[in-house]
Amino acid sequence: MPEQAFRFIPAETAREGTMKVWSPLLVPREAIEAEIERLAEVPAGQGGRRSSVIVHPESTAPGLGLSPGVDVTINVLKPGEETEPVRHNSNQVEFCLRGEGEVRAGDRQISVSKWSAWNIPSMKVYSHRNNGKDLFVRLTYSNAPMLEKLGIHHIERGVAYSDLRGGNSPATTNAPAKYTRESAPDFVITEAGARVRGYEFLTDIEVVENHMIHWPWEKVSEHLSMTYGDNKRNIMLLYNPATERRNGTTHSFFATLASTAPGTPPRKPGRGHKHSSVAINYHYKGFGSSVVDGQEFHWRAGDLMLSAPAWSEHAHYPGPEGHGILTIQDHPLQIGMESLIWQERMDGPILTLGSEKGQTGYVGPRQEGA
Ligand SMILES: [Fe+2]
Repeated sequence: MPEQAFRFIPAETAREGTMKVWSPLLVPREAIEAEIERLAEVPAGQGGRRSSVIVHPESTAPGLGLSPGVDVTINVLKPGEETEPVRHNSNQVEFCLRGEGEVRAGDRQISVSKWSAWNIPSMKVYSHRNNGKDLFVRLTYSNAPMLEKLGIHHIERGVAYSDLRGGNSPATTNAPAKYTRESAPDFVITEAGARVRGYEFLTDIEVVENHMIHWPWEKVSEHLSMTYGDNKRNIMLLYNPATERRNGTTHSFFATLASTAPGTPPRKPGRGHKHSSVAINYHYKGFGSSVVDGQEFHWRAGDLMLSAPAWSEHAHYPGPEGHGILTIQDHPLQIGMESLIWQERMDGPILTLGSEKGQTGYVGPRQEGA
């Protein structure tokens, strides 16, 4: 028998069921501000970008980032600067920290300012321009680390909006038009619902249009509690309808904006909860603390935190002046993989959200303080 390159190993050795919990990490406001100033002073990089990825000490290449599958990039543009168009198959959520700018993606263009959020869908040609007088600063969250680890992160630089490959053109094929999804064979073969279907279902997938959309702060903030007793919610999801029942802002991430008003009664100390999705918090106002796997962190406005590494037990405690947090979590991605497990109480069940009945009577993370 010829020598083989592969080997066989016991399956129980290969798949031990590891839950490797990363350390929580707080990136303080001062470090972020210093990096913003540094990026503004050095010559612009490739494509006119001034960008730095924040790397967790446990992160390994390929796919350096703040968590195994998610990165956070600080992006700066000086007044008048514009980036060259680019596109890639990672998706992004962006949050404006300072200044104002124009963002173009595919056939959409938006004007953004402080605390506005928007998505940039995969494979749309996009660019940014600073049309203000201050620095235009934004945080970008993406699934690039996961794609880099899989060896499938595709980036095209030097592309043009006029290039119809920019995600908007119909697919071309030499196949006869009679081979379409609508006319393809589709048979039920068992009572349990097993079907067999033609290959057209795999190559001509039903399209759900996904465009850049914008959640302006002045519109979102109308729905968040700003005054104690105003009966508004403390946390709201920035929902992109393209993500359908996976309730995301992009196909990988949900973004939520949280706000508690000054004078809101403090949360009682107690156990936290845990989930297989990872949560990254940017604290845009106020101060408070978090307990993550027994470690206490004190945060305030301007800090970024890997505040819930996947499967870490965490609880957050806003301070008496109220607080505001942008949370990014890879929840939709995990619903799509049927891997989103959630344990609300440490003595309670582990639920597979999206596949079985989830939490009910639950309007915010640990809202009840239990
Ligand atoms: Fe959580």
